Amino acid sequence: MKKKIALVTGSTGQDGSYLCEFLIKKNYKVIAADRRSARDTNWRHKFLNIENKVMYENFDLTDFNSILRIFKKYKINEVYNLAAQSFVKESFNSPISSSESTAIGPLRILEVIRETDKKIKFYQASSSEMFGKTNTPFQDENTSFYPQSPYAVSKLFAHEMTKNYRDAYKIFACSGILFNHESPIRGEEFVTKKIVRQLIEIKENKRNLMELGNIYAKRDWGYAKDYVVAMWLMLQNKQPKDYVIATGKAYSVKDFINICCKFLNLKIKWSGKGIKEKAINLSNKKTIIKINSNFYRPTEVNYLKGSPKKASQDLKWRPETGLNQLVKIMIEEEPNTK
Ligand code: NAP
Ligand code: GDD
Repeated sequence: MKKKIALVTGSTGQDGSYLCEFLIKKNYKVIAADRRSARDTNWRHKFLNIENKVMYENFDLTDFNSILRIFKKYKINEVYNLAAQSFVKESFNSPISSSESTAIGPLRILEVIRETDKKIKFYQASSSEMFGKTNTPFQDENTSFYPQSPYAVSKLFAHEMTKNYRDAYKIFACSGILFNHESPIRGEEFVTKKIVRQLIEIKENKRNLMELGNIYAKRDWGYAKDYVVAMWLMLQNKQPKDYVIATGKAYSVKDFINICCKFLNLKIKWSGKGIKEKAINLSNKKTIIKINSNFYRPTEVNYLKGSPKKASQDLKWRPETGLNQLVKIMIEEEPNTK
């Protein structure tokens, strides 16, 4: 049988790498779209040993022609748009370029689909950050959005555009509203990877101090490898619909630190409040965790907890990995990701 062709944008990122790995196993021909650069952006593909199993194509969300060229070259069946400037804090520093890629980028792809072949299925990586300043005990597909960063506003624009192209042109276009998901190959600017990496360095006497921002923010953290399965399931669904993908449990950044310390057998004691809060290492009484206001955001999202009920009913998707298990995997694999 002829192989289906999938285009994965953001293919060198955390989700893109796991999704490429998953689609290869599903016998797809995988077009891995990435920005060519002098940096080693391929380390995740090396980690997963998929470098020689995908076709690389040069692609930039801000460059319409780079998108069009790929669609002209291949008879694509499914597009997974995972590319974005995905770091929320950075979007406050570069709101215009972040919006150029994260908001307008997906629209460029939708336009190419509309002009070339409306039968191509499209997945958009929407985000729980769109819920923003929410006050509901959990968030689902009916919760209203109140984005709190240029990143989240951009994601909401792309989310609504995806819906509009579905309604207006009958394109099979849908969005997964994914809550935070992590893994050993998470980018080091994100809080979970930063905590795992820096606590291990502290444990091994290679670092003295870890500085963080708001440790009381709560997130619903899942395992990225579980979440890419949901993306694929959404494009195999009978109807294009949007789904929340989450674990249904929320923990604070401080909880995450405490779980890591337990696995690392690092005994700590917290004291102080606000900017003065800190943790000492009980084995030598040295301060190893401090708060630094440089890591605060101008507007913060304090609480996210998703309900994956609709995905569980329609797609039979369930999160397989709890937070303790996720932390264990991240700690065990950390030495292999440097
Ligand atoms: P990630 O590791 O930061 O990967 C993002 C990818 O996008 C990178 O490969 C990056 O390439 C690429 N990219 C950035 N700007 C681009 C541009 N202008 N043109 C082409 N490619 C560009 O992010 P992730 O965690 O895998 O997340 C995947 C997607 O899901 C993102 O859209 C993110 O916003 C969204 N999302 C993530 C989560 C989560 O918790 N992980 C939750 C909800 C939604 P370079 O290496 O060249 O920078
Ligand atoms: N990165 C970071 N660094 N975050 C910190 C720090 C720190 O030193 N200290 C506290 N935090 C807090 C942030 O303020 C935020 O409330 C929380 O930790 C999580 O931050 P990140 O790991 O940077 O993730 P995020 O929630 O902002 O965004 C991620 O999840 C979104 C889905 O909700 C990203 O993957 C987004 O792309 C994604 O859409």
